Amino acid sequence: MRKPWEGRFKEKTQEFVEKFTQSVSFDKRLALEDITQSLAHIKTLYEAGILTQEEMLTLQNVLEDIKREIQEGRFVFSEELEDVHMNIEAELIRRSGEVGGKLHTGRSRNDQIATDEKLYIKKEIKECIMLLKDLRKKLVKLAENSVDVIMPAYTHLQRAQPIRLSHYFLAYREMFLGDELRFCYAYRMTDFLPLGSGAVAGVDFPLNRFFTAKELNFRALVRNSLQATSDRDYVLDTLYACAVVGMHLSRLSEDLILWSTQEFGFVELPDRLCTGSSIMPQKKNPDVLELIRGKTGRLYGNLLSLLTSLKGLPTAYNRDLQEDKEPLFDSIDTVKACIEAMNLVLDGLSLRVENMTPPFGDPIIATDLANYLVMKGLPFREAHRVVGNLIAYLLSENRSLGDIKLEELRDFSPLFDEDALSLLDPKVVADRRRTYGGTAKEEVLRQIEVAKREEGM
Ligand code: ARG
Repeated sequence: MRKPWEGRFKEKTQEFVEKFTQSVSFDKRLALEDITQSLAHIKTLYEAGILTQEEMLTLQNVLEDIKREIQEGRFVFSEELEDVHMNIEAELIRRSGEVGGKLHTGRSRNDQIATDEKLYIKKEIKECIMLLKDLRKKLVKLAENSVDVIMPAYTHLQRAQPIRLSHYFLAYREMFLGDELRFCYAYRMTDFLPLGSGAVAGVDFPLNRFFTAKELNFRALVRNSLQATSDRDYVLDTLYACAVVGMHLSRLSEDLILWSTQEFGFVELPDRLCTGSSIMPQKKNPDVLELIRGKTGRLYGNLLSLLTSLKGLPTAYNRDLQEDKEPLFDSIDTVKACIEAMNLVLDGLSLRVENMTPPFGDPIIATDLANYLVMKGLPFREAHRVVGNLIAYLLSENRSLGDIKLEELRDFSPLFDEDALSLLDPKVVADRRRTYGGTAKEEVLRQIEVAKREEGM
């Protein structure tokens, strides 16, 4: 097969080098974007008077045929032709003859690849945002259905203060909303068209880049041709957005894995999402969640991998930039699969409310006992010590706060009155946290309303 650039060469490319340098095995995923781009480029060439109308129509028709074959999986890509661009162009030339050779006028693969990649990223980010939205809606539904469930919040993985389970679900909804913003930012940074920048210095044909940007639905142009062919920051932004989604999913997974243990028993995962052990008959393992957590490592790795590839590059295009594709595809595939997996988990989650609910007198109400004394005039540090002593005393007696008598409380501070006993109820305590963003029922209900409105539910 003849290479488009063979004119200058006396030797055939070594077979190993062909295999080593080819990218078509993975960049063929950009084939449809490549054709979309070429169709716009053809129009730009026509507008610039470089192609006749007849030539334009011929090129368009042949490209449409090739597109159909690609969509139907009938197009054969060849590694000898290196990358997706040359595969499609070679086929166009084979079918349309001389006129096919005009397609690459005023274009380099350097601005071409960046454009394909941006078209791909814009499409995929939209899909990621849709998936995140589904996930957030599920969290809001879960929050709505668990307003009256009280559970312990943990800090340092130690029982800390009572919260509503809804509050927990809403916290993750906030994280996944932040993820949408990160994707929007990445989208915005991607939404500058490189095409028309040529190999590095711009193009000497009178191409109207603004016209091309309109055709390809880009918000604006990359304003500097060196930057247009050098830049992969938008890929980094996308990889970062994916990595943060992964981190959030991984933390949620970790909670649910812990919660599904016998020791916690807060939730039960459906059998259809779990697997068994080949040796221990009693086991039911949360593999889906473990894999979400595990795959997050790849999302971080992909970001680091591209950052590292970029750091030493001399300005403008270098072949190293080809190394951005596999991490990008992998992160997009991985993050989409992980969000979908979490969607399935949330659909199938059963809550074991009886195991979550903190008992009357659970020490997680201790902060409020101290605050009670503060309201009676004791400085907070003093109040903290008094309640600390009370807890230590109960621990040494192996007793629970739940059956403490008022007289006993008074032994620790005479400021305790009858009404202090109501604070032994974790639900009462949760409802005292009425600050904006707090866990009191009325506040959580308000947050749910806001969330529903924002999600269009
Ligand atoms: N496969 C290349 C890439 O992914 C396409 C651009 C090649 N350009 C070049 N001058 N060799 O970056």
